[in-house]
Amino acid sequence: MPSTLPAGEPVPEDGALPASALAGAASRPLAFYLHVPYCATRCGYCDFNTYTAGELRGSGGALASRENYAETVAEEIRLARKVLGDDPRRVATVFVGGGTPTLLPPADLARMLDAVRQEFGLAPDAEVTTEANPDSVDPASLAALREAGFTRVSFGMQSARRHVLAVLERTHTPGRPERCVAEARDAGFAHVNLDLIYGTPGESDDDWRATLDAAIGAGPDHVSAYSLIVEEGTRLAGRVRRGEVAAPDDDTHADRYLIAEEALSAAGFAWYEVSNWATSRAARCRHNELYWTGADWWGAGPGAHSHVGGVRWWNAKHPGAYAQALAGGRSPGAGRELLSEEDRRVERILLELRLAEGCALSLLRPAGLAAARRALAEGLLRPEPFAAGRAALTLDGRLLADALTRDLVD
Ligand SMILES: C[S@@+](CC[C@H](N)C(=O)[O-])C[C@H]1O[C@@H](n2cnc3c(N)ncnc32)[C@H](O)[C@@H]1O
Ligand code: SF4
Repeated sequence: MPSTLPAGEPVPEDGALPASALAGAASRPLAFYLHVPYCATRCGYCDFNTYTAGELRGSGGALASRENYAETVAEEIRLARKVLGDDPRRVATVFVGGGTPTLLPPADLARMLDAVRQEFGLAPDAEVTTEANPDSVDPASLAALREAGFTRVSFGMQSARRHVLAVLERTHTPGRPERCVAEARDAGFAHVNLDLIYGTPGESDDDWRATLDAAIGAGPDHVSAYSLIVEEGTRLAGRVRRGEVAAPDDDTHADRYLIAEEALSAAGFAWYEVSNWATSRAARCRHNELYWTGADWWGAGPGAHSHVGGVRWWNAKHPGAYAQALAGGRSPGAGRELLSEEDRRVERILLELRLAEGCALSLLRPAGLAAARRALAEGLLRPEPFAAGRAALTLDGRLLADALTRDLVD
């Protein structure tokens, strides 16, 4: 979740949605994202909406504290129930992200999940994921999370190399994420993801190969691999600006992506979104699939974004302001926008083009369609899906996905 929020119209105090957003809701899946805005320390590259204990001291008081957080989120879930009214949907997926959700005791994460269960009910086959930092879990906490109903855990591994972890300012040691996968399996998790980052200053092709080998060797059923983004305002951006470390370049990122595709596909992982690989369809992250295909999702927590029936809103960013609104019986929503047909068209192209299935050519206007034909001729789109009416990326196309989407939305 980005730490800057867009401008928009105010959210009513009771959080009420226009009738148009709720129309036809029963036929759409419903997902919950629960944000946990706490980290032990801040990694040098990260601009997510997260706070260390030191950063929160003196701002927001007890309301912003970790101790009260699960109950505050439960309050927002009760608000969601009121706003969505007699909506009969059970929740298809829950994703607890951060920040570092596992800085909270498992009982607090269970408390948040129970609130979803009590207010909405979970679908019988619901996917329930939590993100976790490798040094914030142990066999007992993983067993407690599994017991509470979590079905999937996603660990931030990033790299297997000590010097790369040091540039990223990660706190865990090499080898710990791989042991986490084994501990999660022992605790009964069928679905385990490792997040990796490539293109960190000082990382070589061989470092990246070693990272992929270590990740694959640990036996997860899902891997997410992201190119390092140097976000404005982070310590890493400052180091790049001062010339202390070199910013990763596009060619390096492309080479590393190809290395990832080669290693992962050889190990039986198939890509289903540009940055995501899974060992089977069942191993895909269904929560993200719902997000990428425009389902309804309610994001609870500071700075969290929600989308219901074409209305998008976002919460107050600071944990203190967020908790204060809920304590006063008000929606924590800070702004919202009604998506126009054109907004939704562009968003669908942006998200769906990144999927292995691609996006429907019928979403494109004449200029976008002409760009798609050029991309097909250049080998960036696959011929068979194109003939069947879909723009689906080739491997070369995946390397240029961002530029291509810009052309296709024209
Ligand atoms: C918000 S983090 C939460 C997970 C957990 N706190 C952790 O770091 O292990 C989710 C993932 O986003 C990715 N990420 C965060 N900032 C990034 C950046 N600037 N560039 C690339 N990937 C980033 C990392 O792979 C991270 O695991
Ligand atoms: S632990 Fe995760 S969320 Fe926290 S600062 Fe590091 S990358 Fe960001």
